Amino acid sequence: MDHFFLGAATAPHQVEGNNVNSDFWTLEHLPHTSFIEPSGAACDHYHRFEEDIRLLSEAGLNAYRFGIEWARIQPEKGVFDEKEIAHYRDVLLCCRRYGVEPLVTMHHFSSPKWLIGEGGWESEKTIGYFADYCRRMAEALGDLMGYVCTINEANMGLQLASLAKDILRRMSDVQVGLRSQAVDVRALAKAEERAAFGCEGDVNVFLSVRSEEGDRIVMRAHEAARDAMRAVCPHLKIGLTLSLHDIQVLQGGEQLAAQAWENEFLRYLDSVRKDDFLGVQCYTRKRFDETGSLPPPQGAPITQMGYENYPQAIGNVLCRVAEKYAGELLVTENGIATQDDKERVAFLEKAAESVKAARAKGVPVKGYFYWSLLDNFEWQKGFAMQFGLIGVDRITLQRCPKNSLYAFRTFFVEEETK
Ligand code: BGC
Repeated sequence: MDHFFLGAATAPHQVEGNNVNSDFWTLEHLPHTSFIEPSGAACDHYHRFEEDIRLLSEAGLNAYRFGIEWARIQPEKGVFDEKEIAHYRDVLLCCRRYGVEPLVTMHHFSSPKWLIGEGGWESEKTIGYFADYCRRMAEALGDLMGYVCTINEANMGLQLASLAKDILRRMSDVQVGLRSQAVDVRALAKAEERAAFGCEGDVNVFLSVRSEEGDRIVMRAHEAARDAMRAVCPHLKIGLTLSLHDIQVLQGGEQLAAQAWENEFLRYLDSVRKDDFLGVQCYTRKRFDETGSLPPPQGAPITQMGYENYPQAIGNVLCRVAEKYAGELLVTENGIATQDDKERVAFLEKAAESVKAARAKGVPVKGYFYWSLLDNFEWQKGFAMQFGLIGVDRITLQRCPKNSLYAFRTFFVEEETK
């Protein structure tokens, strides 16, 4: 395992399909849901994983980041489903057969529905539940795993909280008027959510706006899960991933930019110090002036997601992270949503250059995982976002590999032997 990992990533809820015992499945089916469409069969990766792993491997990639779906493993509180554990054993065995190193995510946004009824990601009880589930997975599958990521984008809840504040701050009067109508619909939706999960107060899924206390709970859940897995499988390399931006300062923005980096990254240093690696996820830059973060510059290329196409962000973030975190770094997600695959190829070439430049400066980057292997279910935005190296026909679910799948490796070739 001393080579560079070059691969692509997916998340169970976004690709597997029919994740019926999860909180997101419930949310997607409420009358006033904020999801533009339900995940349904997604990419049916649950049944087609072998084809997907084969395509990845035939393109010369040597690693695959995928997730175990907690809601499948524990469809009910206290119950472990052996059939589902066996399923993930098959996925791991398939990776090994194709010479693909698996990087397994234990939690990627979706949770079992029952967990949310118990208070979800603002409840201390979640720490123990999550550690139990992770321990069990290490016991059952640890012999086939190497790198394990406990929680995907563990900092996301606080980021959503600050995003919500930012949007309010930038709203015009007309928008504020419209918002008050939207508030009525939101109130209705919240009532439906409470009823669906049996919660008296707020419903706290992983992508809910998080409190400071909730943020500490997420970190404690990570640490408890890491320690529990290590106790049974000392050979595992365990870490979490963070959503990070290439934070840039314009005149007057020094203080706000520093604050943003503190909130996104520095505040988590203590929780990750005992980890074996850090997963870095980055999609774009954020520029700050004295008013806060700015929209993309006029005329800048914009992705389907609405943010700036700025591929060199990943290299900049890796260098900045390495100033404070001395351990191994893995780019666990980086990518672009675009209909134009040529734009993806160009993105990959520039992103690869910036990662190689960071490595040349001595930043210990162990691997790069493109997001995503497949065009998939992009949460509230549904299936319209095209991040994939492989397209998926929405009717037949047939795989349609794109040029980017094959171009990808050529940009990194010389890293493989370093
Ligand atoms: C998440 C993925 C998501 C991707 C693209 C990341 O924040 O981990 O689940 O699909 O970004 O938006």
